[in-house]
Amino acid sequence: MIALNVNGQDRSVDVPDDMPLLWVLRDVIGLTGTKFGCGIAQCGACTVQLDGQPVRSCVLPVASVGTRHVTTVEAIGATPSGKKVQQAWLDLEVIQCGYCQSGQIMSASALLERNPNPSDSDIDAAMSGNICRCGTYTRIRAAIKQAAKA
Ligand code: FES
Ligand code: FES
Repeated sequence: MIALNVNGQDRSVDVPDDMPLLWVLRDVIGLTGTKFGCGIAQCGACTVQLDGQPVRSCVLPVASVGTRHVTTVEAIGATPSGKKVQQAWLDLEVIQCGYCQSGQIMSASALLERNPNPSDSDIDAAMSGNICRCGTYTRIRAAIKQAAKA
């Protein structure tokens, strides 16, 4: 059994040590907001936060999480930055198909937690690992700036 803290709740999951955190979240715990895109840490669709840091859950063995707190898109709205980011996403209608967007929101929220007033280059650096096939990058940048001002 592996102990996890996910979205503030203690969990115990009976899975292999090397199962990616993404599959534990989606298939074992039932939190399907985090998406599978590439499976090789290249697209960012699977981004969650460990103690506030964005990580690619598709390549993270669940046993390596340890005591770090896992936050997923289902709970990011309860954090100050996550709440502002989600509101800005709605106000500026960032989303098109939506598939990449939970990962985008997790990376954007983590950025604002560590840098409340990011420059364009800060935003580009923080978000460069999150790919959007619908090309919503301009609106994502604008929404991050709006959230920073909120
Ligand atoms: S699914 Fe994890 S980075 Fe693409
Ligand atoms: S909104 Fe469609 S992939 Fe980003």
